[in-house]
Amino acid sequence: MLSLDNVSKSYVGASGPVRALDTVSLELGPGRFVGIQGPSGCGKSTLLLIAGGLMRPDSGEVRIADTDVYALPPDERATFRGETIGFVFQQFHLVPYLSVLDNVLAASLAIRSVDREKVRERAKRLIDRFGLSGRMHHVPGTLSTGERQRTALARALLNEPRFLLADEPTGNLDRENTALVLDALAEFAETGGTVLLVTHDEQAAERAESVLTMQHGHINVAVPG
Ligand SMILES: Nc1ncnc2c1ncn2[C@@H]1O[C@H](COP(=O)(O)OP(=O)(O)OP(=O)(O)O)[C@@H](O)[C@H]1O
Ligand SMILES: [Mg+2]
Repeated sequence: MLSLDNVSKSYVGASGPVRALDTVSLELGPGRFVGIQGPSGCGKSTLLLIAGGLMRPDSGEVRIADTDVYALPPDERATFRGETIGFVFQQFHLVPYLSVLDNVLAASLAIRSVDREKVRERAKRLIDRFGLSGRMHHVPGTLSTGERQRTALARALLNEPRFLLADEPTGNLDRENTALVLDALAEFAETGGTVLLVTHDEQAAERAESVLTMQHGHINVAVPG
């Protein structure tokens, strides 16, 4: 279960505080595949970062798999995130001097016990699944945007997380690669994972089982998928 309880967050902007999230509550159980839509600036990425244990809210509680994430000390929270949550950043955040393979493998550095050989095989399988075999030893700067995006998704899936939070993971992909990525997200949910997908893409929203709409830091309506 992933739950947000009355979560609020303001940023300090040049012209005063910006209320990016306003008392948002949300509960997602295993096997759910939920999309989030809404205009630019409505707080989608903020919601995802907070839900993923990456940014502490000003108030409210975030519980992931029965753990109050922001109550954990920072190093324990990092390990917890590494083992439990896969995150695809809107700007990918790949390491520029590492190859595709090493970027994907970097996810395993955050977890406690790793069978190096097994994790390497899994990384290669994911790279292959997302059509990147021919790019495995390339660094991000030499990849297309869509290839970087798929690398970020492979990295997010490496540790077999229970939760996958993805910020516009199909934003730069053609129809075929979008379908490839959406198939992977749907399969992840079918096997008991929880997917929270921020997207502007209709093709992506259609695959989600339901879509939440955000506006001005609020979740508006839940449209059953
Ligand atoms: N680090 C920051 N400092 C100040 N203001 C910020 C910061 N990050 C986001 N904001 C503001 O908070 C609001 C919500 O931003 P957020 O990135 O969550 O929106 P979004 O819905 O993801 O938008 P987009 O669809 O363009 O990615 C916006 O008004 C944005 O300008
Ligand atoms: Mg965003």
